[in-house]
Amino acid sequence: MSFSAAWEDAFRQGGHDSRWPWSDLVSMTKRHARTLDETSRVLEIGCGAGANIPFLLTTGAQYFAVEGSAAAAAKARDRFATLGAQIHTGDFIDDMPFSGEFDVIVDRAAMTHNDEASIRRGLAKLAAKLKPSGLYIGIDWFSTKHDGFRTGEATSDERTREHFTSGPFAGVGRVHFSDEAHLRDLFAGYEFLALEEKVTEVALPTRGVLASWNFVARKP
Ligand SMILES: C[S@@+](CC[C@H](N)C(=O)[O-])C[C@H]1O[C@@H](n2cnc3c(N)ncnc32)[C@H](O)[C@@H]1O
Repeated sequence: MSFSAAWEDAFRQGGHDSRWPWSDLVSMTKRHARTLDETSRVLEIGCGAGANIPFLLTTGAQYFAVEGSAAAAAKARDRFATLGAQIHTGDFIDDMPFSGEFDVIVDRAAMTHNDEASIRRGLAKLAAKLKPSGLYIGIDWFSTKHDGFRTGEATSDERTREHFTSGPFAGVGRVHFSDEAHLRDLFAGYEFLALEEKVTEVALPTRGVLASWNFVARKP
């Protein structure tokens, strides 16, 4: 099991209740997954409370999700009652309840909340569920340029940090930080159609550097 129980606590306390689709996810999907229709199948890993669902449904594709937090998954199912069991509560690293393959896997800031060994295991299992030429759309995979890479405590591997006492990662368990070479290594065998690093220097409300990767990787 890789899922961090910290997420369940965070959602139960009312945190991370995002409601609007994330704009980078919208633009990457619109740019690179243009041919989705009702015959397509999209899997979202770590859907949280379902912020991206309204947008992904507009593509016409059949939507499926695996989310570790029972509280978050329940919120998503409440909001999108017709999806029912297509939003599954489970650990997406090891637990894949859906049969068949997917055209697109969408991951906004979900896989990057696991340690390296789990990420490698999860990506290998997900690759087997992706159709040939299928897309893995990764949004907000945290970058080693993010302040959190220096403020968190090291864990079992050098790129995964935890026990943040303040900032955006306080109370969410593990956070994995990547640079370009590491992403290329994790997605070896895929072709990157897009790979963008977003570095934001924040002046207010708290001065600091936020940095993450957005990418689209195509399975051979
Ligand atoms: C930062 S939130 C993002 C939520 C959603 N993707 C969004 O964009 O609003 C990360 C989500 O990934 C889920 N998550 C992280 N690791 C997981 C795992 N191993 N199995 C299932 N869910 C996981 C968390 O429970 C949380 O809902």
